[in-house]
Amino acid sequence: MPHPLEQLRDEALRQIESATDEQALETTRVKYLGRSGSISSWGEKMKALAKEEKPVVGKLLNEVRNAVTAAIESHNAQFHLQKESGALAKIDISLPGTPHEIGSLHPLHQMHERAIQIFRRMGFALAEGPDVETEWYCFDALNTPPDHPARNEQDTFYLSDGRLLRTHTSTVQIRAMESAPPPLRVIASGAAYRRDEVDATHSAQFHQIEGLYVDENVSVADLKGELEFFMRELFGPGTDVQFRPHYFPFTEPSLEVYVRSKALKRGEQWIEVAGCGMVHPAVFEAVNKARDDKAYDPEKWSGYAFGLGMDRLAMILFDIPDIRLFAQNDLRFLRQFA
Ligand code: PHE
Repeated sequence: MPHPLEQLRDEALRQIESATDEQALETTRVKYLGRSGSISSWGEKMKALAKEEKPVVGKLLNEVRNAVTAAIESHNAQFHLQKESGALAKIDISLPGTPHEIGSLHPLHQMHERAIQIFRRMGFALAEGPDVETEWYCFDALNTPPDHPARNEQDTFYLSDGRLLRTHTSTVQIRAMESAPPPLRVIASGAAYRRDEVDATHSAQFHQIEGLYVDENVSVADLKGELEFFMRELFGPGTDVQFRPHYFPFTEPSLEVYVRSKALKRGEQWIEVAGCGMVHPAVFEAVNKARDDKAYDPEKWSGYAFGLGMDRLAMILFDIPDIRLFAQNDLRFLRQFA
């Protein structure tokens, strides 16, 4: 006469064997092994058994539980396999695959990388600053008085807390000098914002690379030599560079940079691509005040700074007629630079 537990086991195994889907299997599991399942309930019944019977029945209960659990698991695995091969059977592996689109760098990004590589060869390190700035970094420290037109609400995007979207990357000049004493040779690349009327050559967001070199005896000749070298590296040997007098509050003297190149489609036309000049002593003094030292003594140190219009340079280099194309995300445009 088999033990009732053995009968339960055989009964459970038969049901598992005949289960046709996962749900039937689960019902069987609950019936025998669930909290109040008929096998599980033997745990309670054991308490009433005689002392010498307990280990024998305990061992049997374990074996029965393990056998039924193993049968359910192996059956479940079979169902899974069937499901998967069923799903695979519906796939036609002779069909062509879905092509995976490979992205490429945005032309402005490509332009930045080219420029940064040239400046790196000349010993410039990368510096950084935020797009949302204080008036101190954007104007005050750059010798730009409160009544200067650039600070007008018509020209600059102000936030309600008094901060603003930087109107140029010259902010990073101040940040770099505040954080390190001279000599200093850095570039900073990023976006700048102005309330410009948007047209083919103006955008409310544009991009610049700022450069700053501070050392002893830096002169306009150094500035000119460096920018001429940069333009020739970028546009090729047939490139002419012209410097025209200009005004910026934070440089003295100040210059605008124009280029033309026979290698370019625009040919003989001079195009303005940068502002630059020798760092104004008042800028050094503002930095000293913020640093609370005399590290940038204008009697000892001099420097040049420049701000390159990256959108302009990219438009010239890639012969792009309209600045708005950079932000429209039209794939027909972007694919041409892939
Ligand atoms: N910040 C100036 C501009 O955006 C360019 C500039 C940079 C001029 C550094 C002089 C020195 O127009």
